[in-house]
Amino acid sequence: MEAIILVGGLGTRLRPLTHTIPKPLLPLANVPMVERMVKKLPEIFDTAILAVNYGLNEMETYFYERDIGKRIIIVPEDEPLGTGGAMRNCFDYITGTTAVFNGDIVSSINLENMLKQHVKTGAKGTLALWEVDDPSRFGVVEFKNGQITQFQEKPEKGTELSNLINAGTYLLEPEILEMIPANKKISIEREIYPKVAGDGLYGFPFEGYFIDSGTPESYLAANFKSLGKNGTAAHNGASIRGNALIHESAKLKDCIIGPNAIIGANVEIEKCVIRESVILSNVNGYGSVVEGCIIGPEVSFEKDLRRTLISPKGTIAF
Ligand code: GDD
Ligand code: MG
Repeated sequence: MEAIILVGGLGTRLRPLTHTIPKPLLPLANVPMVERMVKKLPEIFDTAILAVNYGLNEMETYFYERDIGKRIIIVPEDEPLGTGGAMRNCFDYITGTTAVFNGDIVSSINLENMLKQHVKTGAKGTLALWEVDDPSRFGVVEFKNGQITQFQEKPEKGTELSNLINAGTYLLEPEILEMIPANKKISIEREIYPKVAGDGLYGFPFEGYFIDSGTPESYLAANFKSLGKNGTAAHNGASIRGNALIHESAKLKDCIIGPNAIIGANVEIEKCVIRESVILSNVNGYGSVVEGCIIGPEVSFEKDLRRTLISPKGTIAF
């Protein structure tokens, strides 16, 4: 079975970081977001199809150099085709029921249970659903007796049908993908789901967590969620507080790390306190208290920092 991961998009809200690393390759607890998604697929999904436009070369290099336990097919788009157009562009590689993921979501969805429900109901499509307080910046559904009876994408505030949103994980039968015109820019949320609603579109509400990792704050939150409750224990040169993950190649001296701190490959830091932060690879730091920051790759710091993103292409406060 195949799973399509939508990894287009420019990652604009994570600039300037995404000027050097395409968003899908940004690490969550030291493993690129898209690699995590592929590895989390249930065994029955033996093929991951990556629908890519921005960052194609980096993505090809990354996956052709490693074996991550699944067949990877990279399907490029010359121009961004939108969520629906990108799925349709992968049509030749699918063989039946297909899972589709928005590539920017980190969630606790149990795809195996979702698939069981999808088969049992005989749905044309099943959408994972998540409850939020403010649904207006998402896809919103009317959900009755297990079925999605209406779908509205980014409705105006006050007009939302419910608090249940499209969580960006789908199981789709080929007939839905066939509804999408080929080689055209199409949003599945705006142009296809509203049509299928009430006609074989089912919902799969789930609990646990759901994070759209697109902003600096949510990128940090997604990292800490991926870290889980069992980060690394002791490391030479660092005293650990709570959850923390330190790459084995990092060199630390007189540091206090955590809670919620992730230190990437080949980082060298001395006399630093790092908490609620992600330090990407090849960073050097000295004598600083770092809190709520994203730093790297390949930069240096020597002063206290708070809620700052430092990348080779620039620094922003958030
Ligand atoms: N290949 C490809 N080509 N991928 C694309 C394209 C494209 O032209 N456009 C968007 N994507 C990918 C993005 O990279 C992302 O992984 C996913 O499709 C969704 O696009 P976003 O731009 O992140 O959409 P959104 O967050 O505003 O809304 C979507 O996600 C919400 C959940 O977070 C919608 O699916 C909403 O209905 C949903 O509630
Ligand atoms: Mg998104």
